Amino acid sequence: MTTPGAMPAHVAIIMDGNGRWAKARGLPRVAGHRAGVEALRGTVRAAPDFGISYLTVYAFSSENWSRPKSEVSDLMGLLKIFIRRDLAELHRNGVRVRVIGDREGLQPDIKGLLDEAESLTAQNDVLTLVIAFNYGGRDEIARAARKLAEAAVDGRIDVRSIDAAVFAASLDTNGIPDPELVIRTSGELRLSNFLPWQTAYSELTFLPCYWPDFTRDHLAEALRDFAGRERRFGGLAPQDIAL
Ligand code: FPP
Repeated sequence: MTTPGAMPAHVAIIMDGNGRWAKARGLPRVAGHRAGVEALRGTVRAAPDFGISYLTVYAFSSENWSRPKSEVSDLMGLLKIFIRRDLAELHRNGVRVRVIGDREGLQPDIKGLLDEAESLTAQNDVLTLVIAFNYGGRDEIARAARKLAEAAVDGRIDVRSIDAAVFAASLDTNGIPDPELVIRTSGELRLSNFLPWQTAYSELTFLPCYWPDFTRDHLAEALRDFAGRERRFGGLAPQDIAL
């Protein structure tokens, strides 16, 4: 159970509202995504100061392919720029990069950059930045099920050994603890296929600000909110156990 005042080790963020931020300023949507990358940089720098060890961000969902071609290409371009420009700083600051999502469907240059970012930073331990890219929760679960089914058909595992822990180890997030806190910006109240397995017991915080406006103060506010939550994981609060 989380005691009041506790801090989450893993915070996951749905960075929503880039388009509306841009529209409110009469700017093209790509300007909102660019400002979103700035907000991401600030959040990665701030996270270790709050004792956060894992930060997962939803950068491109498997459903985002349905956006206009030009926007998809802008988002791909921004990821490339982010990795090329920021990888050295991330590495210097002890950030380990992990990427979750289906990498097979990506262009070879993007796949190469993601592989490079992961291998260069693999030994870092200040913060793990988990980038969900071409990620969809149902797709992740289906891929894990397929992997286990193939292993069973090949005789590498016994079907009866499959339990929640074995299943979790087949997900893209293998080795990453579940997020205690999920933050979504822009006032939308849903999870949109983001980490459906891993968020079974996560606390959720919805902030009205658009992602490009997200600052260290918003992060502090979400963490204060989290610290006041009582987490029971299906059990009872300590004060109710003797009743
Ligand atoms: C949601 O805003 C945001 C996204 C679909 C992409 C998030 C991407 C970034 C913050 C920048 C890219 C980061 C990397 C690492 C490449 P939206 O476009 O759905 O906004 P709207 O709901 O207001 O239209």
